[in-house]
Amino acid sequence: MSAHDSGGEPRGIDYGSYLALEELLELQRPRSTPEHPDELLFIIVHQASELWFKVILHEFDALITRLASGDAPASLQAIKRINGLVGIVTNQLSALDTLPPQRFAQFRGYLGSSSGSQSIQFRAIEAVSGLREPHFLHALAEHGPIPALVQRALERPTLQALFESLLTKHGVTIEQIYTSEKHTTLLLLAEELLEYEQGFARWRFLHVQLVERIIGPGTGGTGGTLGAKYLQKTISQRFFPDLWAIRAKFYGGP
Ligand code: HEM
Repeated sequence: MSAHDSGGEPRGIDYGSYLALEELLELQRPRSTPEHPDELLFIIVHQASELWFKVILHEFDALITRLASGDAPASLQAIKRINGLVGIVTNQLSALDTLPPQRFAQFRGYLGSSSGSQSIQFRAIEAVSGLREPHFLHALAEHGPIPALVQRALERPTLQALFESLLTKHGVTIEQIYTSEKHTTLLLLAEELLEYEQGFARWRFLHVQLVERIIGPGTGGTGGTLGAKYLQKTISQRFFPDLWAIRAKFYGGP
């Protein structure tokens, strides 16, 4: 950002005040006493991930509007941005690969029962993407009322349903976009949606590997789950079963 970018010329706004940096940089509050030197990194990777989750959810609003209006090129643009953001949030996990198990153990007790599994934005992303598995729905309701952000996401049509009604508007089926040469943009959109699913699963995989690396494959989580064993199971969840199923068509499948 530079002084030259100031279109409307509001006075008294500078870098720090525009970005609310004073407040932002006050929000990292390690709990360990004496403060463990690695806790700041642990907090910041989580906080930064939540900020990216916020913008991912925001971009989903644009994607959903575009899919619903049948605009394939604009939908393609929107999902490409989301995929870039998911890639960023995934790559950030590697910062915690530098946290050795014995050092995490020195401050893990200060986390109490706080756990990533309580991330409302993460659950909203899963819901908006189209996760409707009974286990997921059950887990959402387990700890009291479902948060409004997640409830709203659950009430929206799944991405797969939105994509399929976009195809209907264009008068084609999934099979036709994969078998005819005429539907390039629709095919690119389908593949980019699959890319999203793959990118999200990549986050899940790298996260479970991080968990195994730091607390071990058999240690329970602070959120009360079986830890890595529970997380492993989530990797096979699918947002776009129809896009995965179509692949088998070319190999003698149904
Ligand atoms: C030291 C690094 C980390 C460890 C040891 C760890 C550990 C765990 C464990 C054991 C779980 C299972 C739930 C439980 O019982 O607690 C979990 C879930 C979760 N964690 Fe982490 N985590 C780490 C880093 C992160 C980071 C950086 C994020 C980014 C926001 C994150 C987000 C999540 C989310 C969203 C879940 C729920 C996943 C699901 O239910 O599918 N975790 N974590």
